[in-house]
Amino acid sequence: MKGIILAGGTGSRLSPLTKVTSKQLLPVYDRPMIYFPLQTLLKAGIKDILIIVSPEHSGDFMELLGSGKELGAELRYEVQDKPNGLAEAILIGEDFIDGKPCALILGDNIFTDDMSEVIQSFQSGAHVFVKEVHDPERFGVVEMNGDQVVSIEEKPETPKSNYAQTGLYLYDSTVVAKAKSLAPSKRGELEITDLNRKYLDEGSLKATVVKGEWIDAGTFESLFRANQVIRELSR
Ligand code: G1P
Repeated sequence: MKGIILAGGTGSRLSPLTKVTSKQLLPVYDRPMIYFPLQTLLKAGIKDILIIVSPEHSGDFMELLGSGKELGAELRYEVQDKPNGLAEAILIGEDFIDGKPCALILGDNIFTDDMSEVIQSFQSGAHVFVKEVHDPERFGVVEMNGDQVVSIEEKPETPKSNYAQTGLYLYDSTVVAKAKSLAPSKRGELEITDLNRKYLDEGSLKATVVKGEWIDAGTFESLFRANQVIRELSR
C-alpha cells in the first residue's frame, strides 16, 4: 500500500505562527508535527510515501525530511498550488498511486493508537477512522451500523451521530477514477466526504472507531493539547 500525507493549506487559523512556516512543521513537544502522520504510516509498514506541500514551504519539507532514508521511508514530494480540497490529494497523487491501494493522512492529524492492524488487513472499498466528539457539526459526520457506514455528511447542521471522520482514509485502486468524477462543493473544494460517499453509494465504505487520542492540531487549543498529550506519552 502507498501512503500520501497532505501537508498543504495556509494554516490561517494558526496565524501568525504560520506566517513564515507551514502548520505541519510547527513543533509538537519534541518533533515537527509532520513526524506524527509519518510515523502512523511507517508503523503500519507503509514506506512509499508522497508528501503534498504548499508552494511556499516545499523547500523546508525537503530540508527536514530529505529522501526519507534516515526515517526508513522513501519519500516523494508534490506541490498543491492552491488549497482546493482534501480530495485533490488523490488527483495530485495519481501517478504516484499507480493503480495501487493507498492510505491518505492529513499532515496535522495526530493519533496515539497504532492503526497497523486495520491498515494491513484493508482489502477493498474505502475505510475511514472515526472518533466520538462533542461538536460533530465541525466535521464530516459518519453514521454506522456495525463497521458499515450508512451515511456521511460534511459539517451538517443537525448531525446524525457524534462520530467525526478523522484525517486518515484507506482507498482501493478505484479511488483515482472516483476523485476525477468529483465536482467542487459550495466552498469551492473537492471534498473528502464526497469522495467517501462514492464508496458509500457502492456499499463499500467501512469505519473503525479510534480508541486513543485523535488531535487535528489546526487551532491554538488543539495544538496546545497535542503538545501536552505527546509530552505525557514521551515521559
Ligand atoms: C476536513 C474534512 C472533514 C474531517 C476533518 C478532519 O475538514 O472535510 O470531513 O472531519 O477534515 O480533521 P476541514 O479541516 O477541511 O474543515
